[in-house]
Amino acid sequence: MTKRIFSGVQPTGNLHLGNYLGAIRNWVQMQHDYEAIFCIVDLHAITVPQDPEALRAATREVTAAYIACGIDPEKNTIFNQSMVSVHAELGWILGCYTPLGWLNRMTQFKEKMQLRKADAEDQLKKIRHELKQYKKGKGRLEELLHFVEIFVEAGIEDSEKTTQAKLGLYSYPVLMAADILGYKATHVPVGEDQKQHLELARDIAGAFNRRYGVELFPQPEPVIQGAATRVMSLRDGTKKMSKSDESDYSRINLTDDADTIAAKIRKAKSDMEPGLSFDVEKRPEAANLINIYSALSGDKRDDIVSRFATSGFSEFKKSLADVAVAHLEPITGEMRRLQADKGYIDAVLKRGAERANDVAQGVLKEVKDVVGFLRV
Ligand code: AMP
Ligand code: TRP
Repeated sequence: MTKRIFSGVQPTGNLHLGNYLGAIRNWVQMQHDYEAIFCIVDLHAITVPQDPEALRAATREVTAAYIACGIDPEKNTIFNQSMVSVHAELGWILGCYTPLGWLNRMTQFKEKMQLRKADAEDQLKKIRHELKQYKKGKGRLEELLHFVEIFVEAGIEDSEKTTQAKLGLYSYPVLMAADILGYKATHVPVGEDQKQHLELARDIAGAFNRRYGVELFPQPEPVIQGAATRVMSLRDGTKKMSKSDESDYSRINLTDDADTIAAKIRKAKSDMEPGLSFDVEKRPEAANLINIYSALSGDKRDDIVSRFATSGFSEFKKSLADVAVAHLEPITGEMRRLQADKGYIDAVLKRGAERANDVAQGVLKEVKDVVGFLRV
């Protein structure tokens, strides 16, 4: 069977170092050994509100980033998802084989909804504890009522958020499964945060195959590799670097110039420990910067730690800024050059969509025949 890659990024602005080190850079390395399809997933983007003009601009920007990072648009297929209707069609079909229970487990959905369920569970524990104390004649009624109040508030807030939430955000992982299975992709290079979605795609493939006793969909393998599969925020080493973080200082954007990159690294959160050591639990910020250093320079983590073991953070950061600028500046420059040429970007996307459509229509026909849809 052909080894085929499928992967994608949402055109939602602020493409950052996490997207690059967690995903795109790995694609660049893998493109030589696989047939590869790289998507700009605009159907996924509208699961949260998007401004139409900004969405169009971001679609071109991500395309430019792919090419600037080193994806060869001649050898590979680059396209935006909404140009190939198979994604939406197959997404519907696969949704009919996906139990709600599977979707309820998805942590990204819960995070995006920012549900306070965990908060409520925590409070419930405290209420039970206080109640026990109270029965023993030890607890205070005010204390107990305080916890009850927080518990009820969290419950109300969650139920309001749940009714307001959009179906598309909930079924997002089914569409992602359709992206991958619609091309019978065998390998999916992504960052650590997408692992659960990929397991779901594998489960859906299995459920469909089993239902009809066919081997139509291969099981897609997640490829999560490199020194920085989960790049953390520069402001908080326990939070993922993300496009939507309010603070621009939390991330390095692929559009940042050299001075901005250096300033962001200089101001990155550090700690009071002397010297440099790698300890994710105790020194999450240091660990994150060391991982970034390693991923960008290719140096081993241990070598970096021993080189800066006795010097202060500021010396390490200076060196990291040099490494980051040297690596990212050519990409930024090329991105700017490409973005000025809309005609070229659009031509790449048009050709990509035609190629992608050819493959995906073939798979969709097979699916329709298996399901029993009449094709006349
Ligand atoms: P998104 O920005 O959500 O469209 O993500 C596009 C790709 O970048 C996916 O493969 C993600 O797993 C990856 N990614 C996003 N944020 C990070 C991060 N902070 N660290 C590593 N990979 C990331
Ligand atoms: N959900 C992915 C993210 O937010 C993007 C994505 C959509 C994707 N479809 C995909 C990634 C298919 C890999 C394969 O990062």
